[in-house]
Amino acid sequence: MPTKKLTVAFYGIWPEIKDYVRAKMSGFHTTIHTEPISLENMNKDADVIAIFVESALDKKMIHALPKLKMIAAMSTGYDHVDAKAAQAKKIPVCNVPFYGENTVAEHAFALILGLTRKLFLSTKRVKEGVYDYHGLRGTDLKGKTLGVIGTGHIGAHLIKMANGFEMNVLGYDPYPNKELAKTLGFKYATLDKLLAKSDIVSLHVPLFKNTYHLINKKNIKKMKPGAYLINTARGALVDPEALVSALQSKQLAGAGLDVLEDENFIQHEEALMASGCKECQIKTNLMNNIIIDHPDTIVTPHNAFNSTEALKRIVDATVENIRSFAKGEIINDVTAAKPKKK
Ligand code: NAI
Repeated sequence: MPTKKLTVAFYGIWPEIKDYVRAKMSGFHTTIHTEPISLENMNKDADVIAIFVESALDKKMIHALPKLKMIAAMSTGYDHVDAKAAQAKKIPVCNVPFYGENTVAEHAFALILGLTRKLFLSTKRVKEGVYDYHGLRGTDLKGKTLGVIGTGHIGAHLIKMANGFEMNVLGYDPYPNKELAKTLGFKYATLDKLLAKSDIVSLHVPLFKNTYHLINKKNIKKMKPGAYLINTARGALVDPEALVSALQSKQLAGAGLDVLEDENFIQHEEALMASGCKECQIKTNLMNNIIIDHPDTIVTPHNAFNSTEALKRIVDATVENIRSFAKGEIINDVTAAKPKKK
């Protein structure tokens, strides 16, 4: 069986799930690392590298793995992998397309409710010994418009939840899914119209070159005054400087963010300096700190995927990708050409 010969190295595996991963990987030679992958700790014998989002796998690293045959991204987004470099070496990059649609949408909704009902200010006040609601007035969701940018798996779940709150929904997607719009009773609009009409805008789009700073200095001004921006997709979809200006001018009432551009540097500012960073990265880091400290924001540490059920689904789907590959059947390869959606 070819599966016996494959060496699979996992990186960034949470300690509490190590045993689960090991049990699922019977029949392979498996190494499991809790820390993210680096040039220093890479298993040079690995046929397969399985990595979570904190593990950036760049061109240099891909070239430094002589036996590498497959990359398993333990996530939906795969912008932490240099997929082009992998593709050039005919190495498939297999992701987990479906694990977290309800999980991430639930987190996005938690951010929406946290902002609109001033939950964190409220609990902070009570814990500080002040039992007084003055100054904590929120806004209803019923009758408000939610703008969903990216109506894929997660976006569709968010729309279902918004329907439960009796909200109106506008969607924007370069590949509109008319059937979905009919079933869930929402309308597609242009990006500009969605920004102008929505009380809450939520991003559910992959980070590609053409979606980098999708929300930027120009179009953030087109957002409805007093709107909220929610981002549980990828930090670099939003220009942080544009967001800081919109928060400071009170054009936006607030932002709920699970992701920030260059978020890996937030906890490790020294790594930013050591990486030979550019001026713009220092600026991004400064903007991130202003966003985190701003009273009208809720920032969570890329935690939207992180439910007990979703973690198991991520591992199960990753193992299925690896087992299929070992049998000669490549599934969920993001480097393969995809048919266009309707
Ligand atoms: P999906 O692939 O099902 O949906 C993405 C949708 O975005 C597609 O319908 C696509 O046509 C659309 N799209 C592409 N370019 C666009 C553009 N320029 N403007 C508007 N729409 C565009 O992906 P899914 O499962 O809904 O996930 C969305 C993103 O959420 C992922 O790419 C990932 O980056 C992020 N994510 C974040 C997690 C977290 O823990 N914070 C966990 C899981 C996913």
